[in-house]
Amino acid sequence: MAQFHIAPSILSADFSRLGEEVRNVVAAGADWIHFDVMDNHYVPNLTIGPLVCEAIRPHVDVPIDVHLMVRPVDRIVPDFAKAGANVISFHPEGSDHIDRTLSLIRDHGCKAGLVFNPATPLIYLDHVMDKLDLVLIMSVNPGFGGQSFIPEALKKVREARARIDAYRERTGREIHLEVDGGVKIDNIAEIAEAGADSFVAGSAIFGKPDYKQVIDAMRAELAKVESGAKA
Ligand code: DX5
Ligand code: ZN
Repeated sequence: MAQFHIAPSILSADFSRLGEEVRNVVAAGADWIHFDVMDNHYVPNLTIGPLVCEAIRPHVDVPIDVHLMVRPVDRIVPDFAKAGANVISFHPEGSDHIDRTLSLIRDHGCKAGLVFNPATPLIYLDHVMDKLDLVLIMSVNPGFGGQSFIPEALKKVREARARIDAYRERTGREIHLEVDGGVKIDNIAEIAEAGADSFVAGSAIFGKPDYKQVIDAMRAELAKVESGAKA
């Protein structure tokens, strides 16, 4: 069975003490740090850039999973690679040349991901599977933390899982399937059952006083899926 990854989104962390926040969440069991980059152009919010990625890099040794909600995307990719990003994902709407952007990310030594908004079709996967390391399904419209999970996303996760499984059977290569938006303790099992292996959670983790308690509860839910109890 797939190994599950929990990726707390620092969008909901206390920005005045970000180093401490990322250290604490990794100590609490986080597998990746999810790093949301918004440009007040592609999405109606403005967050953090490569300088902040570089600043938190020495505080944690887990992968930094950069989610670029910016347009255009190419100019900023090398800066994030230099700042210590491990995975860089972008939205097809943010690039005029998706294949080129995926190559750019990989040429800079990072894993490459493509992100699908609730209304963006999976058709963009068709000709780029060989250049993908991660598929990220948005279960909210990007721009803000703390929104409600859009149930239609489960259907898209199932479809993406089928494509990834077919690709793995053909090539032997693994592609992560991540879900972002409204992930909580009470829906993570259902999302895993639909086929996701990686879970972004912002407000569910950073909105609570005890990060370990939330991450442990999420893992307990995932263990039920692994053992088939909820299958
Ligand atoms: C939304 C961001 C998410 C966000 C998730 O545009 O991409 O990563 O932080 O926040 P929650 O888990 O609160 O929905
Ligand atoms: Zn995100």
